[in-house]
Amino acid sequence: MLRLSTLLVAGAISANAQSLYDAISKIPELSNFTEFYNNNQAVASVLFNNQANYPITFLAPSNKAFADYQARTGTPLADVPAEKLLELVQYHTLVSNLSLGGSGDAGASGLTVPTFLTNTEFNNRSVGVSMASKFGGTARASGQVVFIRSAESGGSKKRFVLSRQEGGAQSSIRSGLSSNVNLTVVNDEQGLWVGGRFHIVDGLLTPPTLCKTTIREATLTNLDRALNRTGLWDALDTSKNVTCLGPNDKAFADAGSPDSKLNQTALSNAILFHTLPEVAYSDYLENGQEFKSLQNGTVRVKIEGTGKDRKIWFNNAKVVDANVL
Ligand SMILES: *[C@@H]1O[C@H](CO)[C@@H](O)[C@H](O)[C@H]1NC(C)=O
Ligand SMILES: *[C@@H]1O[C@H](CO)[C@@H](O)[C@H](O)[C@H]1NC(C)=O
Ligand SMILES: *[C@@H]1O[C@H](CO)[C@@H](O)[C@H](O)[C@H]1NC(C)=O
Ligand SMILES: *[C@@H]1O[C@H](CO)[C@@H](O)[C@H](O)[C@H]1NC(C)=O
Ligand SMILES: *[C@@H]1O[C@H](CO)[C@@H](O)[C@H](O)[C@H]1NC(C)=O
Ligand SMILES: *[C@@H]1O[C@H](CO)[C@@H](O)[C@H](O)[C@H]1NC(C)=O
Ligand SMILES: *[C@@H]1O[C@H](CO)[C@@H](O)[C@H](O)[C@H]1NC(C)=O
Ligand SMILES: *[C@@H]1O[C@H](CO)[C@@H](O)[C@H](O)[C@H]1NC(C)=O
Repeated sequence: MLRLSTLLVAGAISANAQSLYDAISKIPELSNFTEFYNNNQAVASVLFNNQANYPITFLAPSNKAFADYQARTGTPLADVPAEKLLELVQYHTLVSNLSLGGSGDAGASGLTVPTFLTNTEFNNRSVGVSMASKFGGTARASGQVVFIRSAESGGSKKRFVLSRQEGGAQSSIRSGLSSNVNLTVVNDEQGLWVGGRFHIVDGLLTPPTLCKTTIREATLTNLDRALNRTGLWDALDTSKNVTCLGPNDKAFADAGSPDSKLNQTALSNAILFHTLPEVAYSDYLENGQEFKSLQNGTVRVKIEGTGKDRKIWFNNAKVVDANVL
């Protein structure tokens, strides 16, 4: 008995003691990233060899992610300049040790997690009290976030790299410009390394950018027109700590096209009523919670259901796409 438990401990320690490089180089679908790591030791070591950063979870891009990047941009990732690479790698590095298996860390409502991307070109958020306490303090939680949607009930099987189980719902990671990539959860045996864990993403994450670019990319045409008419773009793009409840084109149409019919004052007030003075990620929202909008009216949260059936309303408006970063 004693002998057996000694053996088990020894096994666990050796899995934990491997470097990230050792861990990823054993996974065939990470061969491009392994080569990339080899060629960018300086970038990698800043993040992965620095114990002050631990524990971290790295989202390693699969070979498909490398191929897709090259197909989309016409440039191989290897040709991206070093400082851009560092930002990209920072955004794939989460400030927490997340197993993400089954009904694990991401829970039924998903999970917003800060990364190491702190450059204000991509990150002007301020850290709320709840997120700071959840992720090791204001400084550690200050980087731009990703949103993890867990595999839902029924998909509670773990997906392993070597023995993939199909059929369950797909876990995904949301990054900037509403982009979503699929997540393969790696089990402890393969995924643990000395600084934490890694999991696999099948596309590169997109660092978030200005509100203006994000709203236009989402083709919210009427909201774009309303913001043009009221001249509120600059305020929106320079304000920290705000959440925009962006009505889609159908919502504008259903409301009788206020973007063209209301006068500027009334339209500004309507937009300020849709702007909350704090960052409200969906996983932190609670039923009955109230916000005072920038127009001073009260916005009340209603939540029904759990897991993939969890639905959120702000007053009587239903959320159709949450956490556009
Ligand atoms: C990925 O690796 C394969 C071989 O494993 C290679 O043919 C391909 O060129 C690599 N792609 C990139 C973008 O590095
Ligand atoms: C953050 O703020 C800085 C300075 O105000 C600005 O230059 C930058 O574009 C902003 N970035 C985003 C993503 O909002
Ligand atoms: C994620 O998986 C779905 C279904 O398997 C697939 O259609 C989609 O293209 C994948 N996304 C990416 C970014 O590869
Ligand atoms: C990460 O969590 C696992 C347990 O889930 C633990 O064994 C491991 O030591 C942790 N790694 C770090 C660097 O904290
Ligand atoms: C808003 O203004 C920009 C810049 O002037 C313009 O390109 C865009 O088409 C306008 N949007 C709408 C919906 O009119
Ligand atoms: C703008 O419209 C509101 C009501 O929609 C009205 O009360 C207000 O007087 C109008 N302001 C101007 C300057 O026309
Ligand atoms: C952001 O908003 C939250 C909630 O209102 C507040 O507690 C926090 O202090 C704000 N952060 C900054 C930097 O203003
Ligand atoms: C909201 O109320 C504050 C004071 O409580 C005031 O300074 C501000 O002008 C009001 N905003 C609007 C849009 O009425």
